[in-house]
Amino acid sequence: MTAGTSVLDLGCGPGTDAVPLAGRGAQVTGVDLSSAMLDRARTASAEAGVTVRLVHADMRQFVEPACYDLVISGYTSFGYFADPGWGQLVLCHAWWCLVSGGRLLMDLFSKEFFARWAGIPKTVEVDGGQLFMRDTVLDDWTRLRSDWTLVRGDTARHGFFEQFVYSAVEIRGMLAAAGFTGIVCFGGFAGDPFDNHAKRLVVEATRPPESEGIPS
Ligand SMILES: C[S@@+](CC[C@H](N)C(=O)[O-])C[C@H]1O[C@@H](n2cnc3c(N)ncnc32)[C@H](O)[C@@H]1O
Repeated sequence: MTAGTSVLDLGCGPGTDAVPLAGRGAQVTGVDLSSAMLDRARTASAEAGVTVRLVHADMRQFVEPACYDLVISGYTSFGYFADPGWGQLVLCHAWWCLVSGGRLLMDLFSKEFFARWAGIPKTVEVDGGQLFMRDTVLDDWTRLRSDWTLVRGDTARHGFFEQFVYSAVEIRGMLAAAGFTGIVCFGGFAGDPFDNHAKRLVVEATRPPESEGIPS
């Protein structure tokens, strides 16, 4: 990435990727549905002394045509949809947001990973407490429900979220349908293969330079 690269971070959260990229000279726009997350991203960028344009928006609606060299979606920000068609729509919007030849980088927990991991209850030590997590597979492996309970002292908070989970083959098909080419899957950011050891699914795709018109 060169200084001045324009980057769109879909589901930027607390600025995990947006802030360091801005620190490397990128012109970063972070989009998120959660104002609490955007507040955290604002604080993180101020602390790092960088500027990130933060937009409170739903990635299903956010389109700025041909404005970005790179679109990223980090740490499974993709998939919190009620309808499977919305995932496809977001990928089409990402295609539109890219300049010709621009690239998309997605980082997901894949269905293949969850097949090894889901169903095993987990306990994680967190600041001053413990987090208990349990996943339930829904709709024939289309979606996953994650229940969590945070116990701190005498108090316990419970919550859950549901998300679509995608296999590498499914994401490839969706990206191709959105008009992307050069679709490559990795098992991590170091370029490891997406195999039975992969803990992440990192997908790179390109809006082809010669693309014109609406993706099929
Ligand atoms: C698991 S967090 C990851 C955040 C960040 N990318 C990171 O790597 O830390 C997912 C983020 O996606 C955001 N998100 C989920 N659905 C969204 C949507 N439809 N539009 C915009 N943001 C969304 C959430 O608010 C949350 O901040």
